[in-house]
Parts: sequence; structure tokens; C-alpha cells
Amino acid sequence: MELSKNMETAINKQIQAESYSAYLYLAMAAYCDSVGMPGYAHWLREQCEEELAHAMKFYHYVVERGGRVVLEAIQQPPTDFGSLLSLAQEVYAHEQKVTGLIHALYDLAAAEKDYATQVFLQWYINEQVEEEDNARVIVEKFKMAGGHPNILFMLDQQLGARE
Ligand code: FEO
Repeated sequence: MELSKNMETAINKQIQAESYSAYLYLAMAAYCDSVGMPGYAHWLREQCEEELAHAMKFYHYVVERGGRVVLEAIQQPPTDFGSLLSLAQEVYAHEQKVTGLIHALYDLAAAEKDYATQVFLQWYINEQVEEEDNARVIVEKFKMAGGHPNILFMLDQQLGARE
């Protein structure tokens, strides 16, 4: 069964959203590098790679289902994030938004009785639980650090150890 036009369009939009996530996290990495947080910058660049992998997983799925991948423009991300805490909060809020997008895709697949897409999306549903958890824990850590340089230094080293 070929992907419906509706589902194809919706997944193409998600490819755009995942690509924007990659771009946003790379912009955040650049901000962290500019304020002397190379560890968090590394964490965010790794996150950027993950988002590209999310986009590519959708890409291959569309092709596998006989659909047509259409890439849309990616908007410019912000350049200033205010503070490390507000940046971390923005990552968390962004992941919550992405979870909403994935759930909406799932709702569409369910409404269309597109069982294959529902099964495919389960990977993303689980991934979002992990993504939100990681982002939330980092927010808590920045809150605990409370701007103390020594703690921030240690936190940055910890974030820089991400593989
Ligand atoms: Fe692709 Fe961070 O969700």
C-alpha cells in the first residue's frame, strides 16, 4: 500500500522540522562555543547529528513506501539565547514541541488506518521520551549550578563527554 498524499505531505513537513531542529541545535552549539562552554557545544553538535539522523530515517521511509521526498526551506535559527539556563530550557521546550508533532503524525496515521506508519512512528514516540528526559535533566543541572563558575566548569566537562 502506497503512502497517501496526506501522509506523504505530513512526513515531508516532519523532515523539515527535524532538519530545523538540527540547525537550531547547531546555532545553540555556536552560542555555547562563543561563551566558553565547549562541552555543551559538543553535546549540542551531537544532538544536531541525531536530528539529521531523524530526518533521514523519515526520508528513507517515504522512499520505501513509494512516496516522494520534497524538501522545504529551513528557517534561520536565533543567534542569541540569553543565558545557558534559558538555552537549556529552550531545548526542552523544543523537544516537547517535536513530541507534539510526532503525536499528530501518529493521529493522522491512525485516522487513515495506515498501520505501517503507526508502527514506524513508535520508534519516534519512544525516542521523544528519551529526548525530553535528557533535555529536562540538563535544565535541572543548570538550575543547580546557579551560575557558579566551578560547577559550570564541571557540568561543561560532563556534557562534553557525550558520545
Ligand atoms: Fe528529532 Fe529531538 O527530536
